[in-house]
Amino acid sequence: MAINEKFSEQLNHQVNAEHQAALIYTQLAYELDQLSLVGMRDWMFAQAAEEREHAQKFADHLLDRGERVLLKEIDVPELKVGSALEAFEHALSHERKVSEMIRELVRTADEVGDIDSRSVLNWFLSEQIEEEASVEEIIERIKLVGNDGAGLLRIDGELGQRDPE
Ligand code: FEO
Repeated sequence: MAINEKFSEQLNHQVNAEHQAALIYTQLAYELDQLSLVGMRDWMFAQAAEEREHAQKFADHLLDRGERVLLKEIDVPELKVGSALEAFEHALSHERKVSEMIRELVRTADEVGDIDSRSVLNWFLSEQIEEEASVEEIIERIKLVGNDGAGLLRIDGELGQRDPE
């Protein structure tokens, strides 16, 4: 099915947005390394890898439908974090932005009657619910331990066990 031009551009924009997310997670990993939270750092690196997979999933969809994929200049906001809590709050606020972008893609797909993108967009809708939930849970756990350094290191150790997906 031929793809609507505006929708194709929006999908291409999403490829770039997912690469931007990968860079933001990489930056957060560097910040956490500075704070000696190496498990959380590795969690962020694993998340950055997952974001590159998301970018590829959107790129594959465009390529499969005969469209070009164009990478553009990608801005990385300056992120300086002073605590684990701040790092994960940045992550959550970024995920919420991405979720809204995915919903916007769904709205455009509906508007232009693009049925062929339905399964890939549904996959992303579920993925965003999962991603927001997992970051929210980490934030809650970090809040629970508060100023307890041993508790924070325990969470750090657990997050470092994350399997690369
Ligand atoms: Fe690709 Fe974390 O959204």
